[in-house]
Amino acid sequence: MKKYNIVICGGGSTYTLPMVKTLLDNTEKFPISNITLFDTDESKQQKIYQAAQVMAAPIGVDIAQSYQLAETFSGADFVFMQIRSGGLEMRELDEKIPLAHDCVGQETCGAGGFAYGMRSVVDVVDIVKAVRGQAPEAWIINYSNPAAIVAEATNRVFPNDRKIINLCDMPIAILDGFAEALGTERQKLTPRYFGLNHFGWFTHLYDEQGNDLLPGIKQRLTEGNMMPEELKEDSDWVKTFEQLSKMATDLKGHIPNTYLQYYLYPEYIVSKSDKNYTRANAVMDNRLQAVQDQCDFIIENNTIEGSGLERGVHGTYIVELATALAMNEKKEFIMIVPNTGIIPNFSYGAMVEVPCVVSKNGAEPIHVGEIDTFYKGLMESQYAYEKLTVDAILNRDYDAALKALTLNRTVVNVDTAKSILDAFNTQMQFNLK
Ligand code: G6P
Ligand code: MN
Repeated sequence: MKKYNIVICGGGSTYTLPMVKTLLDNTEKFPISNITLFDTDESKQQKIYQAAQVMAAPIGVDIAQSYQLAETFSGADFVFMQIRSGGLEMRELDEKIPLAHDCVGQETCGAGGFAYGMRSVVDVVDIVKAVRGQAPEAWIINYSNPAAIVAEATNRVFPNDRKIINLCDMPIAILDGFAEALGTERQKLTPRYFGLNHFGWFTHLYDEQGNDLLPGIKQRLTEGNMMPEELKEDSDWVKTFEQLSKMATDLKGHIPNTYLQYYLYPEYIVSKSDKNYTRANAVMDNRLQAVQDQCDFIIENNTIEGSGLERGVHGTYIVELATALAMNEKKEFIMIVPNTGIIPNFSYGAMVEVPCVVSKNGAEPIHVGEIDTFYKGLMESQYAYEKLTVDAILNRDYDAALKALTLNRTVVNVDTAKSILDAFNTQMQFNLK
């Protein structure tokens, strides 16, 4: 069997080690020759690289590292992109600047997502160009946020490149919670879903006999919270899943993605936020610290036994997808793809998140059909925001940026949009003209 070469971009991420573990645990199904970790920040990647070497040695997989784009991708079959441009330090600003103006401070939604997009798109485009120069046929599986904006940008800059796959784990994490509550496995459930990234809805959830379990889930959500085991220790995620129950109770119809809380209850979200301590601070104090401790343990003891390192949903999903592409599995995944009539009454060409069948020929979307007015209205306006955001990023266009933020449900007023944008422009040197 062919052994694959993988490059993980964003090797210094807190998600890298769980991803490497998932890859190493699955080599029977998805054989691997080499994993190269790429990052621009040596201080972040160095320990993860050393820990990954300890993990891979008994399995006979080579681990390499790289800090510059040149020569990193030659021979690569798969490039996993999970970069965080600017690191958690900039995430903190993305969240705190909008909050200082009483707007939602979130890394992917609203003005925070806009600021993150300004950095992320530039770096993702550079990496894709480097990959294509060195490995024209490699699958690029992109997880980098803000995925909606990154996907819109990659589709615009590389319109004919069908080997760039954009996806997000959130629908899967939500499904894990449903599956656990139902006492079954996520892999046995077939979801139907539509939307934009971090802006979508479940319409059906079929079991193996074809019965739709979603009405029952909706009922259960009105009675309490359903969330994946993996996130239960994290109080921020507990609050998020409480909001999912609230959304499912307040509005009849489809079950929303958790991220819709930021657009549907922006004032409540702001009232519950701490302007001086945001999610970025919590991630730095908890997950980042935990990963550093795990690395130290693994390196010191020369084993992962007893380190507490577990697989995570990010790694699991990305490896499942890579396996489906490599092995021509024809499995379904929820992915971000151009709307080529999948939702006939929604903007043609928009990057929509829908179930797709994945084989070695890529992703084939499953038809959704026409969507109802409420969802269409929300999505058209959000998509207009995303499109203008990409215009602003690619052209460094202040007017497009101002219009984008004005369209965003978490901002709305031109005056507010202007204040936030001016703060971004000064504190983050966006050079918008
Ligand atoms: C989910 C989303 C990702 C996002 C992550 C943030 O997994 O799908 O897009 O990056 O949550 O989680 P964090 O724990 O860093 O706030
Ligand atoms: Mn996501």
